[in-house]
Amino acid sequence: MEKVYYITTPIYYVNASPHIGHAYTTIVADVLARYYRSLGYRTFFLTGTDEHGDKIAEAAAKAGITPQEFTDRISAQFRDLWPELSVTNDYFIRTTDKNHVRTVQAILQKVYDQGDIYFGHYEGYYCVGCERFYTEKELVDGKCPDHQTPPLHRKESNYFFKMSAYQDWLIQYIQDHPDFIRPERYRNEVLAFLREPLEDLCISRPKSRLTWGIDLPFDENYVTYVWFDALINYITGLDYPDGENFRTFWPVSQHLIAKDILKPHGIYWPTMLKAAGIEPYRNLNVHGYWNVDQSKMSKSLGNVVKPLDLKDKYGLDTFRYFLLRDMVFGLDSSFSEEAFVQRANSDLANDLGNLVSRSVTMAVKYGGEKVPAPTDILPEEDGILQETAARTVAEVETCFSELALHKALIAIWELISITNKYIVEREPWNLAKDPGRKARLETIIYNLLETLRIVGVLVTPFMPGSAEKILRQIGIVDPARQTLDTIRTWGGLAPGLALTRGESLFPRITYSKEEQPVDTNKPPLTPIKPEISYEDFEKVDLRAAKILEAEPVPKSNKLMKLKIDIGEERTIVAGIGKDYKAEDLVGKTIVVVVNLKPTKLMGVESRGMLLATDSEEGLTLVSFDRSALTGGKVR
Ligand code: MSP
Repeated sequence: MEKVYYITTPIYYVNASPHIGHAYTTIVADVLARYYRSLGYRTFFLTGTDEHGDKIAEAAAKAGITPQEFTDRISAQFRDLWPELSVTNDYFIRTTDKNHVRTVQAILQKVYDQGDIYFGHYEGYYCVGCERFYTEKELVDGKCPDHQTPPLHRKESNYFFKMSAYQDWLIQYIQDHPDFIRPERYRNEVLAFLREPLEDLCISRPKSRLTWGIDLPFDENYVTYVWFDALINYITGLDYPDGENFRTFWPVSQHLIAKDILKPHGIYWPTMLKAAGIEPYRNLNVHGYWNVDQSKMSKSLGNVVKPLDLKDKYGLDTFRYFLLRDMVFGLDSSFSEEAFVQRANSDLANDLGNLVSRSVTMAVKYGGEKVPAPTDILPEEDGILQETAARTVAEVETCFSELALHKALIAIWELISITNKYIVEREPWNLAKDPGRKARLETIIYNLLETLRIVGVLVTPFMPGSAEKILRQIGIVDPARQTLDTIRTWGGLAPGLALTRGESLFPRITYSKEEQPVDTNKPPLTPIKPEISYEDFEKVDLRAAKILEAEPVPKSNKLMKLKIDIGEERTIVAGIGKDYKAEDLVGKTIVVVVNLKPTKLMGVESRGMLLATDSEEGLTLVSFDRSALTGGKVR
């Protein structure tokens, strides 16, 4: 059977600009589309905009322009946003497209002709925000549970779709297809709705009240209701009824939505399809809601988070990673910039960024500038990477089939963490000192680079730009050909490929709650101190100091006691215990300020202060690139 995959997002209302909620659904769809494409599936990914209805007409009137001008403008904001977020939708549908309008009318006519649409009177509570009627029971304290606004009371003659006629069929269908609506909590929610008798669905609006909609083909005084119009996009986007895309993709259709529009997708849509003689979609996949700092995102609260702001500030892949990692699919999640920065620094700058930079730096330094051949494999030492990688690939595949993208990322990060540990435990820098262990060193380097290839391929759907950079650094010229199938077996990285060190993939971000967060493409620039005279500078006595002994200060987790030689011996105490081991310090020549007033640190007197700066791995000591004279003045 041909491997095909069809994924849709909701078509977004054009009454407001895109925010992270829209970005989340669309990026999840993109990750899925990229993943299935890389497995060789013929894939169709549809998104677009929903442009008819009361609230669009209202928003256009407020902006003082026609609905068409208004929808053109906002729809373009959505359409143009997606490529900026590396979203690879195959088509962008608008409900104002002519072929969509034609098909909606054809379906209405068919359902009308077979007697499933009738004319009747209705009185009820209407929420413009949701574009639907609510029963009294559904209202909470008389208000719409979603918008917390009182609904309008409306009394109209309208056309109705006999949804009630399909209630029993739908219950049976959901029971026979346990994963039709997933995760399970949303399936249960739909089944709970269906325990009450379904009312018929009012599918028209009189033109006397609303003209911004699709004309009913059988009554020119009415336009169709937005949901009847909007849901059909999922098939008009495939050129229903005669399109080859419809035949190919509809049988495997996957809809992706948030919980806010569960009822239209879980109840209206399958019954509409049934009435129109079209088979139901394959799965409805429902995710939770992004709140912001624990509150609902809303224009009035002024807490709407714009995707491009985050992308510009922190980089696209960091943004994509955060959204996908921080939301458990199906549950709500709360966005905060602080959590965002923390996640970026720990998972990206520290874990993944460090792994790539350390591995490639060591490979270049110790292995020549090429991928070395693994000639000295010790299964009990190296098996851990190979086994973890194989397990991770299998786990990621399961997670994708369950849409648990956050879990897939957790599994990949487990592999990253085990690889970082592999480096620390194998200490390649020590092997490098012994020419007799070259083959072993090269094997370790190979294992690291092969793991990077596997990690690179695994993160590709999530962070396509960064993944490509990782793969290029390890010599892969055509990263697009590194598909999931190429990492099922270990050893696909060819020895001899030319390595290139790249810039830091994920620079650390400094963030303080008070200040605006600062994106650091370079290391953060601490403010420069006021000018001083040369004479003032001359007061600081800097010397080349040789470290004779080093030992941690008892009970301190970062202080180190150093005996130094500056022509005379003395003791200094420095806060470098987290960054250096005592044995690595002895013998180094460093720079020390020798005329600072002595001070006591954890009971040990320090007569001087060494100089150091920040590096990606922590502190790094200021030292010399030729052997300096011990005690020499630093000027
Ligand atoms: N036009 C209808 C959908 C018609 S589909 C046939 C609509 N539009 S919407 O602009 O309101 O989009 C709702 C969808 O946007 C949600 O289902 C979800 O995909 C996304 N999100 C909007 N706000 C969101 C959050 N705060 N959190 C997560 N996703 C959210 O409803």
